Parts: sequence; structure tokens; C-alpha cells
Amino acid sequence: MFDNKCRNLNLQSRVSLAPMAGITDYVLRSLVREYSKTCLITTEMISSEALTQVKDTDIVVRDDNHSPISYQLSGHKPYMIADCAKYLEKYADMIDINMGCPVNKVVKGTDGCALMRNPDLAQEIVRTVKANINIPLSVKFRLGYTFDELNYVEYGQKMQEAGADFITIHARTRSQMYGGKADWKKIAELKRNVDIPVFANGDVVSPQTAAECLEQSEADGVAIGRGVLGDPSLLYRVEEYINNGKYLPPPTLEEKIETLKKHILKEVEFRGENVGVKFCRKFYPYYVNSFTGASRLRGELVLIDDLKEIFKRLDGILISAE
Ligand SMILES: Cc1cc2nc3c(=O)[nH]c(=O)nc-3n(C[C@H](O)[C@H](O)[C@H](O)COP(=O)(O)O)c2cc1C
Repeated sequence: MFDNKCRNLNLQSRVSLAPMAGITDYVLRSLVREYSKTCLITTEMISSEALTQVKDTDIVVRDDNHSPISYQLSGHKPYMIADCAKYLEKYADMIDINMGCPVNKVVKGTDGCALMRNPDLAQEIVRTVKANINIPLSVKFRLGYTFDELNYVEYGQKMQEAGADFITIHARTRSQMYGGKADWKKIAELKRNVDIPVFANGDVVSPQTAAECLEQSEADGVAIGRGVLGDPSLLYRVEEYINNGKYLPPPTLEEKIETLKKHILKEVEFRGENVGVKFCRKFYPYYVNSFTGASRLRGELVLIDDLKEIFKRLDGILISAE
């Protein structure tokens, strides 16, 4: 249900862009915003340790039209995270704390999902950050660390009690990493036991799966991550479907190639040609697919550094598709 509790947080949509390190950078956030004017977009996770060392980083760059935008911080030192949150207030409409990252090097340092095993520390982080900022504070966590430790309901209550204004929950455990299937139904139990808005996350890849997820989770909205790979219009398409019942089909091959060209150009503008072209290689599988010879072409594209040559090959796909 999208109600005043959501509006008071400056949420304007039931759809948000989930943070993805190395993926939801300034460029992808801008592309998502070209379609959806109202979804909450979230930065990649920003390490509070790193931000404390270097303030002037590409990761914080935003445009005026990016609002509403949330900046996600990771870490485990309450005052350090709070200082970073305070610094980010000039960019952010909301601060999010990462309590779900499953990666070994993150959880070993008691950051990310390791905080779910240390709710007292997580509460202290939330309390300290909340006391130092004047914008809403959210937390993003999972169902638990393992299936034997499904503490998400109690954990969510504790985050609310400590001052969190909003929750995004990825319906997997840390031990699942990204495998198995997100269990949307479990989220309903959290939703019934907290008063703050809850967005459901995990495996929403289309307008229909968004609607199913909302029904099963009873959540206020959905957060979408991997679905935007190769399709920055997805959040807009989901909004049109769940708000207006209007189904917009996924992009055609031609549209995907045009979007990839735009994506590459924007990365080149943002990072310079050499770095920008190489950065975009990870996106090829999501845009250059579903036609005969796609895999071979991708194999060739990742070896090319020259922007003009890449565009020539991409235009070749469009010509042979005619
Ligand atoms: C490459 C990649 C990077 C991610 N980085 C972050 C991150 O920085 N912070 C975070 O909270 N979650 C991160 N996630 C998790 C996503 O936000 C999301 O919870 C997860 O992918 C499930 O949602 P989805 O099925 O819509 O992708 C990342 C996921 C992927 C695949």
C-alpha cells in the first residue's frame, strides 16, 4: 500500500532502483531516470571507510533530475558512517545502510549482512546516523544470515525502534547469495510487524513479476536490481503496469542496441574513452543477445577498444536484423 508514510519520506513511486556496485553508477542511474521520472534511485554501495579517506569521488556525482535519490553507505563504525551520511546530505534525499551484502570480504569485516548477526551494533549505527542527519534513513537487509537464522521480522522491528524510516528487504538469506528463488511471501510477515514502509526485493524482472511480488509480499513497493541490466526502461514499465494497468513490452533488439550505444557514449563522456569502453564490456551480454551469432559477436566486441569500431559492429546488428 502506498500511503502518506511513503509520501512523507519523499517517495513518489512504488518502484525503486536497488543498489548494485559497479552497475548502478551515475550513468545507469541517469538512464533509468530518462524513463521513470519518479522512482527512487539508489547509488552503488559507498564504503564509509573509503569515503572518509577520499571525499571527491565519482560515486557521489548526481544530476538535478536524479531526485528522489538515496545514497547507500556500508561499514560497521557508527560514528564513521554517521559522518559520511552527514557529508552526503548535500547530495542525497535519503541515506541507506547496507545490511545485506553477502560478499565474503564485506561480511568478514562485520559489514553488510554480517550486521544481521549483530543487531545491537546495527541499532547503534541506525541511532547514530539518525541523530546526525535531517533526511530519511533506510536500511536494506535480507531474510537472515542462514535459513537457521531467519531473524528478519525481529531485526526489522529493531531497526524501526532505532529510528529507521524505511526498509528494503531482499527475500534471500546471506547463505543463498544470489541463488535459489526470492521468497516474497515471507516479506508479508515483516510488513505486518513494522509500521514503516517496506519495499520487497529479489527476482522482479518484469511488470508481471512486480505485480506478483507486491501481491505476495504485501509490500509498499518493489526494489529492482538485475532486471535493469540491458533494460533501463524496466522501472518505468513496471510503474505503468502497477499504477495504470498498462503493459509496455520489453525493448526490441533494435531498441536494446540503441540503448547500449547511448550507455557506452555516456560512460565514455563520464570516464573517458579508454576506461568507459572497457567498463561497458560487462553490459554486452544483457544488450547483445537473443539473435543468431550474438555470443560470437560479444566475444569479438570485448576485444575491441576503439569506439567507432564498436559502433560499426553494433550498427551491423541493426542492418542484418532489417
Ligand atoms: C552486481 C551486483 C552488485 C550489487 N551491489 C549491491 C550493493 O552495492 N548494495 C546492496 O545493498 N546490494 C547490492 N546488490 C544486491 C541488489 O541490490 C539486490 O538486492 C539483489 O540483486 C536482488 O535483487 P534483484 O533480483 O532485483 O537483482 C548487488 C547485486 C548485484 C547483482
